[in-house]
Amino acid sequence: MEALILIGHGSRLPYSKDVVSKIAEKIKKKNIYPIVEVGMMEFNEPTITQAVKKAIENGANRIIVVPVFLAHGNHTKRDIPKILGIYNGKEDHDHNNGHDHHHHHHHHHGDEVLEIPEGIEIIYREPMGDDDRIVDVVIDRALGN
Ligand code: NI
Repeated sequence: MEALILIGHGSRLPYSKDVVSKIAEKIKKKNIYPIVEVGMMEFNEPTITQAVKKAIENGANRIIVVPVFLAHGNHTKRDIPKILGIYNGKEDHDHNNGHDHHHHHHHHHGDEVLEIPEGIEIIYREPMGDDDRIVDVVIDRALGN
């Protein structure tokens, strides 16, 4: 069975998890994936580990993971692959990124690395990027919509 897991950044404020959860709810209603879960990188639960465990418990053997991030960064290139147990040791170092550099000193990364059982396939996809649909959303926001 296929599962989709959306990964959000997480925050001490509720908005990050709320947005990702609402996106997940909307995808659920499309009935493309029998299982849709949310896993938060930091600050909030469910964690990524909890989301993957829940999907497996519910019968998933093919887990598609989409980071709901705009761009790649240390979380998408290093932290999330490490948690998923698929980190290959190669990463684009991102020391000039103020966000990542600053906040990793303050973050609580409570997620342990997953032990993925035999026969479970993890497919890790790309973040949003400069998709034309994002361009349209940005224009809408610029217009005040
Ligand atoms: Ni972070």
